[in-house]
Amino acid sequence: MTPPYLKIILDSIFDIRNFRNEITWQRAGAKNDPNRYGRGHDVILFYTKSDKFTWNKLYTPFEDASIAKNYTHVEEGTGRRYRRGDLTAAKPGGDVDFEWYGIRPYTGRHWAYSRENLDRMYADGRIEFRSTGMPVYKRYLDEQPGVPLQDVWTDIRLTSASKERLGYPTQKPVALLERILQASSNPGDVVLDPFCGCGTTVDAAVRLDRRWVGIDVTYIAIDLIKKRLLHAHGPDVEETFVVEGIPRDLHAAQALFEQSAFEFERWAVSLVGGQPNEKQVGDKGVDGIATFPTDAKKAIGKIVISVKGGKNLGPQFVRDLLGTVETRKAQMGVLVTMGLPTKGMLDAANHSGTYLHPATGHVFPRVQTTSVAHLLRGHKPEMPLTYLPYMVASPALQAATQMTAF
Ligand SMILES: C[S@@+](CC[C@H](N)C(=O)[O-])C[C@H]1O[C@@H](n2cnc3c(N)ncnc32)[C@H](O)[C@@H]1O
Repeated sequence: MTPPYLKIILDSIFDIRNFRNEITWQRAGAKNDPNRYGRGHDVILFYTKSDKFTWNKLYTPFEDASIAKNYTHVEEGTGRRYRRGDLTAAKPGGDVDFEWYGIRPYTGRHWAYSRENLDRMYADGRIEFRSTGMPVYKRYLDEQPGVPLQDVWTDIRLTSASKERLGYPTQKPVALLERILQASSNPGDVVLDPFCGCGTTVDAAVRLDRRWVGIDVTYIAIDLIKKRLLHAHGPDVEETFVVEGIPRDLHAAQALFEQSAFEFERWAVSLVGGQPNEKQVGDKGVDGIATFPTDAKKAIGKIVISVKGGKNLGPQFVRDLLGTVETRKAQMGVLVTMGLPTKGMLDAANHSGTYLHPATGHVFPRVQTTSVAHLLRGHKPEMPLTYLPYMVASPALQAATQMTAF
């Protein structure tokens, strides 16, 4: 649903003369909303910057019923379907009043083409004659682009994006964004999505060879988009973009923490390959979870990630995390701190026990501590190969290509 006043706001920003379409996108099937009509559509408002803009006309395939009704002839030999087109016109245009193959157009009509053009069409096999002798044009179905796309879109459903689902609440199907980019840009053009969320526009832009800029205020979006692109387009895609605005040194990490402890936690969780918590508070020190396969039967192991951005550090954080690992029936725990871990924390971690990976036989610390500075220098915790975060939600996507080494 798009509130109607948004249209008024956008008219004042983009100028009402640049408004092109209000597109109704039916995102879901029938809904059973209590006490009102089922709400299953979104509105897409299409504006251009000026009256000069890229427009690639799009088409949808003909419906079977329309083909059966209109393309009733089938060419012998080739089996090509065609419809018959009129070769006469109401208004004369040039030298169009002549007899052709013994026929003149009816009173008040003229040939729509010159004699030379009719001869050429005949030579090309594009003309046949009715039983009355009247020539008609053969319009082949396989040469028609389809039906010009209208402003009500019912052929792209959210369910078609189910395999794409990343758990981002407002995720759109990539086919929807591909359609919009195809119509309004060409390969090599730059696409900007200033609220890019989980990066559907960015993914569509990469698929269609557009250059792109994506902006989002939350760190999780940036992390998610990176993983999404890697998953969809392979490791080389990382060479094609730079990420701006995320901490690269301890100073920037501290600044992020001061600005938003929650965003800092999400960022720190991503540094160790985990999926951050959706909830800001109340999850007993669990800020994220990383997952990994424990055996060939796709059993999943869990690593609890806890982040401490504050200055007060002590062994109780390690002991708390060990308790959480146990109550959550997780296999391991990683504590990420802004400052360097104290001796007491290291001792507590050393006494936390070990985890033996059943498939590889590797032994990992049950709970370990690491610091932001350590991670920024490229040192990873001792962990099994983990699944790419976000993608785990969809079992269909659990492939070896999604593993990431930490
Ligand atoms: C509706 S979602 C976009 C979803 C996107 N279409 C997709 O399929 O992934 C809107 C996004 O805008 C971001 N956002 C909100 N306020 C913002 C701001 N001031 N600057 C940049 N991004 C912002 C939110 O974090 C959210 O990810």
